[in-house]
Amino acid sequence: MRLILLGPPGSGKGTQAQRVVDTVSVLHLSTGAMFRQAVAESNEVGLQVDPYLKRGELVPDDLVTAVVVNRIDQDDCDSGFLLDGFPRTMGQAEALGQFLEKSSKQLDGVLLPLVSDSEIVDRLSGRRVCTEPDCQKVFHIKYDPSQREGICDGCGNRLIQREDDHQETVRNRLRIYHEETIPLIEYYRQRSLLKEFDGIGTVEQVGQRLLALIETK
Ligand code: AP5
Repeated sequence: MRLILLGPPGSGKGTQAQRVVDTVSVLHLSTGAMFRQAVAESNEVGLQVDPYLKRGELVPDDLVTAVVVNRIDQDDCDSGFLLDGFPRTMGQAEALGQFLEKSSKQLDGVLLPLVSDSEIVDRLSGRRVCTEPDCQKVFHIKYDPSQREGICDGCGNRLIQREDDHQETVRNRLRIYHEETIPLIEYYRQRSLLKEFDGIGTVEQVGQRLLALIETK
């Protein structure tokens, strides 16, 4: 199954993707997580994307598309993938479409959680993430706390607030989402791929709605 999890920053894409891969046999590919790992490793991609991540701006289309296409072309993606955070611009969506067409592959669905901007600000201000680059598990101090404060339930490493979760940067990310990513909703709706679901409720409730949509695919 080849799926895209669309949606604004902080809408719960990463949280739900972690749950989906426990149930459905697909690979979770988060461009944000790939870039944060590259930054932690200070490799060539990491050095290029670091300033964009810090400002909450989009990494240029050519670079992000090359990283994603190279990744989904690998054998372990043959049984399917769940793209989280890609595509985010019309250029990226078209490049992905061209790559899939060339490889005789098709998308099975584009899933969109519906969450208001005020809910997003609330979620991102309380988000804590694991500092271990291979883990990057996500928590929320109020809505999804770790068992021990400040410590990751998954690997035991320290939890921190992401640098791009500060108020000014969140506002910038939301503005960019409205300008660059919202047009993709109509693009995928016209291709009969879009499935919207209510993103408000507990992590469990939202997860059940998402899984129900995936299971009807
Ligand atoms: P990325 O990491 O993808 O950031 P994002 O899209 O802004 O998404 P987030 O990770 O902030 O949020 P999320 O939707 O995953 O929410 P989460 O589950 O964490 O990208 C980072 C940067 O990389 C970008 O700014 C850009 O620079 C670059 N980049 C990445 N992809 C790119 C691309 N395609 N093109 C160009 N540049 C790109 O949840 C948020 C919080 O809410 C958590 O604390 C969670 O515990 C909590 N929560 C989750 N669900 C619920 C719920 N139901 N109720 C209450 N709280 C909840």
